Amino acid sequence: MVNLAVDFGKSQSKSIYPQDALIRRLFGQRPTFSLHLRLIKKLMRYYSLVLSILLFSCSDSLEETVPAPDLYTETKKALSINPVVLDNYAAQGKPAYVNKDNTAANPITDKAATLGRVLFYDKNLSVNNTISCASCHKQEFAFGDTAVSSLGVDNGRTERHSMRLINTRYANEAKFFWNERAASLEAQVTMPIVDHLEMGFSGQTGRGNITTLITKLGGIGYYKELFKLAYGDATITEARMQTALAQFIRSIQSFDSKYDLGRAQAPNDGAPFPNFTAQENAGKNLFLAPPIFNAASVRIGGGFGCQGCHQAPEFDIDPNSRNNGFIGVIGSAQTDLTNTRSPSLRDILNAAGIANTPFMHTAASATIRQVLAHYNSIANPARNTNLDPRLRPNNIGQNLQMTPDEINAMVAFLRTLTGKDVYTNKKWGNPFL
Ligand code: HEC
Ligand code: HEC
Repeated sequence: MVNLAVDFGKSQSKSIYPQDALIRRLFGQRPTFSLHLRLIKKLMRYYSLVLSILLFSCSDSLEETVPAPDLYTETKKALSINPVVLDNYAAQGKPAYVNKDNTAANPITDKAATLGRVLFYDKNLSVNNTISCASCHKQEFAFGDTAVSSLGVDNGRTERHSMRLINTRYANEAKFFWNERAASLEAQVTMPIVDHLEMGFSGQTGRGNITTLITKLGGIGYYKELFKLAYGDATITEARMQTALAQFIRSIQSFDSKYDLGRAQAPNDGAPFPNFTAQENAGKNLFLAPPIFNAASVRIGGGFGCQGCHQAPEFDIDPNSRNNGFIGVIGSAQTDLTNTRSPSLRDILNAAGIANTPFMHTAASATIRQVLAHYNSIANPARNTNLDPRLRPNNIGQNLQMTPDEINAMVAFLRTLTGKDVYTNKKWGNPFL
C-alpha cells in the first residue's frame, strides 16, 4: 500500500489521469491512495444523490402519464362503443313541421340510449343466446323483418308480423303493437323478452324469467359499466332496461326524405312541393284528400283518404283508427279484429322503391300495389264488427275506383317518404361488430 502511494506520489507530478486533477482541486493535496478512496466515496455519494433525484423525478413523471383507471375496459373489449365520446341521440333535432311526440316522462339521454342500443343488439337477452331484438327488427329493412312471422328462440314463431320501428316517437298514438296492447313504449320493450316464443324468459317449461335475465346481465362486465354510465350505479332493474330500450327506439328517426325536402319549402302539406314531379304531387293530393262517395259507396270524386288514418307530416296512425279490413291470423283460419295500429308510413319502401317488408299484421300484402288493391275495394263482412267507419260509408265497404294512373301516382308519392341515413348510420347499428 505504502509502495503504491509512493508510486502515485512519484509518478504524479506530470499526471495524465483526470482523477488526479480532481483530487488536487477537492483536497488541495497531491493524490495518494487514501485520497483516491475518499474521492471514490465522494463520487458515490454524489451519484446516489443524482440517481435518487433522477428516480424521484422519473416516478413523478410516470404518475403523470399513467391514465386514470379506465372505467370502460369491459365495454371497449366487447363493443365498438366509446362511452367517453357518445353518439348523439338526445339532440338530433327534427323538422319544425313535426310536432307530435310521445316521449312523456322519459326524455332521451345519450348515455341511456347507448345502453339501449347494446341491449337491443345483445343475444344475451334471449334464453339460449340466439335472438336479439335486432333479429326481428333489422336496420337494413327500416327495423322490420322480411319474414312473414319472425323466428324466435327454439324455432318459436311470432304470431303477428314484425313492425318497422321508424319515428315511433313522433306519433300521437302512445300505445304500441298492432293491437295496441302495450300502454306505452316503456311497457312494450320488455314484453318480447318474457314472450315464450320470442326471447323466452317466460318462466314457462323450466325457463327462467325476467329476474333470471337480470341476474345474468349483472354478471356481464360491460353492463356493470353501462348501467353505471346511464344511471349512476350498476344496479340492473326491469324499469332501467325499459327506459334505456325505449330511448334507443325513440331515437330512431328518419327525416331526410324527398318529402321532407319538399315539405320544408311549402307552407303546408296541401301546397304543391317544388321538388316533386307532377306525378308525385298528384299522388300527394290523392293521399290527403278524403274521397267523395255516392250512395253505393263508390268514389265519384276526391282522393283516397289515407290521411284520415296515416296523418302527414308524421304519417303516424290516428289513435281513433279501428281495423282496416285485414282481420286474418297468420297460419290460421281464425279472425282477429283487434289490429288498429300501423307503424309510420315513412320508409315502407327502400331506396329502389321495393317494399322493405311485407305489409300488415299478417304480412298479407307483399307489395304496396297489393295494399292499394285492398283499400280500393274493402270487404265489409258481418263478422268484422270493428271495421273503421271511414272505410265503410253507408255501411258498405268503400270502392275507390282507382285508375292505373292514380295508382302509379300514389306509389310515386309513397316513394318520397323514404329516407337514407336511418339505414346505415352506425349509431343505430350493431355495437357488437
Ligand atoms: C322474434 C321476433 C322479435 C323479437 C326478438 C323482438 N320483436 Fe319486437 N316485434 C315483433 C313482432 C312480431 C311485433 C308485432 C307483434 C304484435 O303486434 O303482436 C313487434 C313489435 C314491436 C314493437 C311495436 C312497434 C309499434 O309501432 O307498435 C316494438 C317497439 C318492438 N317490437 C321492440 C322490440 C324490442 C325492444 C325487442 C327486444 C327487447 C324486440 N322488439 C324483440 C318481433 C320481435
Ligand atoms: C280507416 C283508417 C285507415 C285508412 C283510411 C287507411 N289506412 Fe292504412 N292502415 C290502417 C290500419 C289500422 C293499418 C294496420 C292494419 C293491420 O295490419 O291490421 C294500416 C296499415 C297500412 C299499411 C301497412 C303498414 C305496415 O307497416 O305494414 C300501409 C302501407 C297502409 N296502411 C297504407 C294506406 C294507404 C296508402 C291508404 C290510403 C289508400 C290507407 N292506408 C288508408 C288504417 C287505415
